[in-house]
Amino acid sequence: QKRFVILISGRGSNMQAIVNMAKKRDDIHIAAVISHKPNSVGLVWAKEQGIETAELLHKSYPTRESYDEALRDLVLSYQADYVILAGFMRILTEVFIEPFKGRLINIHPSLLPSFTGLDTHERAIVEGVKVHGCTVHFVTPVLDVGPIIAQAIVPVHKKDDADTLAARVLTMEHQVYPAVVDYLAQDLLSLHNQQVEYKKPVTTLFVHP
Ligand code: GAR
Repeated sequence: QKRFVILISGRGSNMQAIVNMAKKRDDIHIAAVISHKPNSVGLVWAKEQGIETAELLHKSYPTRESYDEALRDLVLSYQADYVILAGFMRILTEVFIEPFKGRLINIHPSLLPSFTGLDTHERAIVEGVKVHGCTVHFVTPVLDVGPIIAQAIVPVHKKDDADTLAARVLTMEHQVYPAVVDYLAQDLLSLHNQQVEYKKPVTTLFVHP
């Protein structure tokens, strides 16, 4: 059984998709869901599901590093095999990233390497791209860069605004992230020398219907 700790900042819909998938599986244990914000909607939901939850509020720490140290120790206390960033809207420093090398995963709402950072949907529309999507990747110290595990693509329609596009991408996020957690639980992929190695062929490209 693999132990996953999920970090969120608020809504937690990706976390919910992962938890719902994990419910049907006895090889996946969601050891904890952690938020850095008080009263996160996602944390309330996770608690209702009987999952261990924790709030570690960044406001209580004087520096980014001191917060990341406390977060690292909290996650280590749950003996996580994998740490899943699911809409965790904080930049993490080396102090956190280093101990979880090869075990720290993020989802980003764009087709990386395009549109790192914030407001990805809005920027995609401004650029006039015809395809957009999301990326699940291993986290390295550079923000939104890191070996890509899987991507989902969605069309961008003429009438889209950032909200309609975000909603379309989100439906795909809810497919691709649980799939990657499934692969990790089954040891089907790992990180070697900054490259993703797949033990057997798995779906890594998801396409909006
Ligand atoms: C998701 O769209 C996720 O890709 C994005 O935040 C949203 C969280 O939604 N993450 C980032 O922008 C990371 N920089 P959720 O809380 O409902 O899963």
